Amino acid sequence: MKNEKIGLIGFGAIGQEVYKKISRKTIKGYNVIGVFSDDINLKKLPKKIKCKSFEELLKKKPTIIIEVASVEACKDYAEKVLKSKIDFVCLSVCSFADRNFFKRISNLVKKIKNKIYIPTGAIAGIDAISSASLSNELKYVKLIQRKPPKALLTVSESIKIKNEKVLLRSTARKICKEFPKNSNIAATLAMCGIGFDKTKVVVIADPKIKKNIAEIEALGKFGKLKVILENNPSKNPKTSRLTAMSIILSLNKRNVSFLSAF
Ligand SMILES: NC(=O)c1ccc[n+]([C@@H]2O[C@H](COP(=O)([O-])OP(=O)(O)OC[C@H]3O[C@@H](n4cnc5c(N)ncnc54)[C@H](O)[C@@H]3O)[C@@H](O)[C@H]2O)c1
Repeated sequence: MKNEKIGLIGFGAIGQEVYKKISRKTIKGYNVIGVFSDDINLKKLPKKIKCKSFEELLKKKPTIIIEVASVEACKDYAEKVLKSKIDFVCLSVCSFADRNFFKRISNLVKKIKNKIYIPTGAIAGIDAISSASLSNELKYVKLIQRKPPKALLTVSESIKIKNEKVLLRSTARKICKEFPKNSNIAATLAMCGIGFDKTKVVVIADPKIKKNIAEIEALGKFGKLKVILENNPSKNPKTSRLTAMSIILSLNKRNVSFLSAF
């Protein structure tokens, strides 16, 4: 029987969902032993679980830390987690579009035994993309992200959008910089496929839809792939319900469904 001690960084839409699912024993052998978030004082949680700082979370000696916070949090804590011999599950995948951060983590994971994992998040088709890229059979990957304007823009900007509007047509690297809270699936695709500079992404604000729609097209010697995922949003309109469940699935089948990024 496993006895994994989970620490969470971030307690927003996804963090709360993951906490709920682990606490209700959706998966056996996992307990949340600490939660650190910069808004922790506002959150309802048992006192013994609340951590006022990242250091307090580390002192609880978790075996796995799940980052469900932000690109800033990922960049601030990833190395400290990995150097503390704790497995790190990263959801703010756009962090890796920063070349320096990517390089630092890539070098670090070569020297340690613990691992960094990237769950599939709010995306499907990663298995085929990863397989095709292994044998260099992937030539072209494009992601079209279509979201309600309020998921992509400020309230005042979003109410001005009456018809669908292309906000950006570029590479995964650029999109991660411009929309870091919305582009993690572009980053995951890029890391499993042909990289941040070759993966093409189009971001569309569409006032007619309520879902976060991701359309992936890939081409190569392997054949052709087309996946359309109509994600229902989580409590946070920027993020999708499926994400929390992908974390649970990953924990449940660790080493199998987890996608190791390095
Ligand atoms: N990989 C994927 O497919 C995928 C899908 C959806 C969301 N995400 C990412 O997961 C993260 C969480 O998403 P969410 O919808 O729960 O967001 P959210 O805004 O609802 O919650 C984020 C939480 O993290 C806390 N936080 C943010 N920065 C912090 C920092 N530097 N230090 C400590 N706490 C911090 C916030 O106070 C909040 O409690 C985001 O970065 C989001 O972009 C990834």
